[in-house]
Amino acid sequence: MNTTQSKSVQETKHFVSLESLSLEEIMGMIEESLRYKQGDLPPLFNGKTVANLFFENSTRTKNSFQMAERHLSIQEIPFDVTTSSVTKGETLYDTCKTLEAIGVNALVIRHPEAGYYHELVEKLNIPVLNGGDGSGEHPSQSLLDLVTIFEEFKTFQGLNVAICGDLVHSRVARSNASVLKRLGANVVGCSPESWWDDSMGLERKELDDVLATCDVIMLLRVQHERHIMGDIFSKEEYHERYGLTVERVAKMKDGAIIMHPAPVNRDVEIAGCLIEHDKSRIFPQMTNGVYARMAILNRALGGQS
Ligand code: NCD
Repeated sequence: MNTTQSKSVQETKHFVSLESLSLEEIMGMIEESLRYKQGDLPPLFNGKTVANLFFENSTRTKNSFQMAERHLSIQEIPFDVTTSSVTKGETLYDTCKTLEAIGVNALVIRHPEAGYYHELVEKLNIPVLNGGDGSGEHPSQSLLDLVTIFEEFKTFQGLNVAICGDLVHSRVARSNASVLKRLGANVVGCSPESWWDDSMGLERKELDDVLATCDVIMLLRVQHERHIMGDIFSKEEYHERYGLTVERVAKMKDGAIIMHPAPVNRDVEIAGCLIEHDKSRIFPQMTNGVYARMAILNRALGGQS
């Protein structure tokens, strides 16, 4: 790689995993997101363009990136996988290089392959913003989750967090387990044995044993598209053994909150009637997602907050 190339790679503000950001930078982005929530807008990006490439379905991530782009006066260049040349066999790299060549300034990408971005961040000169890579990472979800937790508790230090459910298939769990530990939270995992993932470095606990002491119960969606749950549990069995039931929520401590990245399988991970419970931050997480993604776009496109 020549010097000019490595210089531009270094300067490109990819956002593919929170692992590569310092804690100062992460805290700065949390505070920036909360300032946007108070109505404090950064300088606008009139004339800048972003393409949102979703190779997996999405409601929240895609629409909140689009909303954040509008708030920042960024123009979206519409990209639809099903009518693109991907259907003619064009590779992800060639697709992204094409968008770079026509002048797109940043790419938001969701793709089913974990780590899809490795080749892209080496070779592209425009930022890649990871909207989720298979069972790998989901850094923009993680940032909005951090914003939601920080907004509530004003700290991460010493918070008791339980990440519950389909850990092994969850990019949300992988991103959050790592960053919450770095920020000083006590993080445990509650999951069936077959969905446990040792590589996250969490202690495995029973939900019923930690319920009363947790500040944050973070539920995960059962990833039906990545495995077949019916082989292991019925929905009712899962809800009874691992889900947040009405009985369990009554045992949570005052001030504790419930999170879920959504979409929710009602009455599986959480009783349907609890989704809008006083303790639930599920919809506020979505609201915060817009502000978190504004901070991500602002960083990628070189703005000052
Ligand atoms: C998450 C995702 O797609 O990984 N959803 C989201 O982005 N809000 C979680 C999930 O689908 O389980």
